[in-house]
Amino acid sequence: MTKVLTTRFDLKGEACDIDVYIKTGGYQALTKVLKESTPDQVIEEVKKSSLRGRGGAGFPTGMKWSFVPKQSARPKYVVCNADESEPGTGKDRDLMRYDPHQLLEGMAIAAYALNAPNNYIYIRGEYWYIIAILEKAIAQAKERGYLGKNILGTDFECNIYVHPGAGAYICGEETALLESLEGKRGHPRLKPPFPAIVGLYGGPTVVNNVETLAAVPWIINNGGEAYKALGTEKSGGTKMFTVSGHVNKPGNYEVPMGYPMRDLIYKDCGGIKGGKQLKGVIPGGSSMPVFTPEDVEKATMDYESIASLGSMLGSGGVIVMDETVDMFEMTMNTIHFYKHESCGWCTPCREGTRWLYKVCERMKKYEGKPGDVDLLDDLAGKILGKSFCALGDAAAMPVQGMIKKFRPDFEKRIKQNFVQLTAAD
Ligand SMILES: Cc1cc2nc3c(=O)[nH]c(=O)nc-3n(C[C@H](O)[C@H](O)[C@H](O)COP(=O)(O)O)c2cc1C
Ligand code: SF4
Repeated sequence: MTKVLTTRFDLKGEACDIDVYIKTGGYQALTKVLKESTPDQVIEEVKKSSLRGRGGAGFPTGMKWSFVPKQSARPKYVVCNADESEPGTGKDRDLMRYDPHQLLEGMAIAAYALNAPNNYIYIRGEYWYIIAILEKAIAQAKERGYLGKNILGTDFECNIYVHPGAGAYICGEETALLESLEGKRGHPRLKPPFPAIVGLYGGPTVVNNVETLAAVPWIINNGGEAYKALGTEKSGGTKMFTVSGHVNKPGNYEVPMGYPMRDLIYKDCGGIKGGKQLKGVIPGGSSMPVFTPEDVEKATMDYESIASLGSMLGSGGVIVMDETVDMFEMTMNTIHFYKHESCGWCTPCREGTRWLYKVCERMKKYEGKPGDVDLLDDLAGKILGKSFCALGDAAAMPVQGMIKKFRPDFEKRIKQNFVQLTAAD
């Protein structure tokens, strides 16, 4: 299987040193674009690759770059979203700690395509040890002329600054991130205007996930068509998945788009721990609807297949749960997270997540009222699509998904059902 993103992972961090990175083909793509390509040609190549954003929404990257106006009175920016807060996701962490220059090179190419001299990596604060790795890599790249002014003897300027977040999930949402980067409270902004038109400090801004930007050097070196050919017709390239939970070998795996989910879990990750039965899998981070074992048999790891089975590829966090997991408990845990992370700006999410949790509190004690399962489902439906930003959807979708696929785990929490069940025992 061709690797795009993880080719230097076996070096266990040695590629953090610029000499190792250059020896293994690093900074060739940046050199190539500066010598051979116009900014528009770079955007065209990325469009050809069919690369889609790996932060969760899956928006086509080349198209996003092409929305940025050529002329702008305000400076333009490339902002790398390294907030990585979706439970179950840890791929960006490894991309930065094992191969930081790959990300810097991808960012510099994006900055060249957009003509953006000053650019930022917004990184979650808990990744403090990676901030040091990135800072060192930036200093080395500057020293060698790959960042800073007059890059490789041209008039292209690209500076990259690292900005740590302060532990709020909402600051991964691109407009809340920009607010936070500007030093304000991390509330999402109204869209439109989208960041590509009015972004950081009012300037046109591309916000891209770490994995998205890290794929760019390979695309430039090998061509957009070659990248696309690694995946399926509609989902090009490869994708990283963080597999966690009840598998024998949890970790980050890079596989081509279209890879069978079954193979990822049973071959790459060594199957279910302790020989237990599989109960369910969340395919794309905690905010996505859950799969049953039957869904897993049918699913391939690409946008279309996962969507056709009623979920989303999201951030690539694959959470595997064995037969011992109580899906009600799992759902309550998830609701607790989103309730805590709701920024409180809009009513459906602020009040809805609290109400969901309140209902779960009585169900946890097996004191649920008749109709509580439907109440949860209904509440989630009143948050979904009715909130100011997608955090509300992220809170609602897993609730509805769990009730749809694992209703008995919820029904047994209703007092009268519980009494009947225990009497029958
Ligand atoms: C509540 C919320 C949290 C998010 N957290 C992240 C995150 O941690 N990292 C990320 O890359 N995208 C996150 N996103 C998606 C971003 O808003 C945005 O779509 C993404 O950074 C765009 O980059 P991409 O096109 O390369 O995927 C989040 C979205 C929402 C609604
Ligand atoms: S949906 Fe939630 S996180 Fe988003 S603005 Fe509303 S309250 Fe804030």
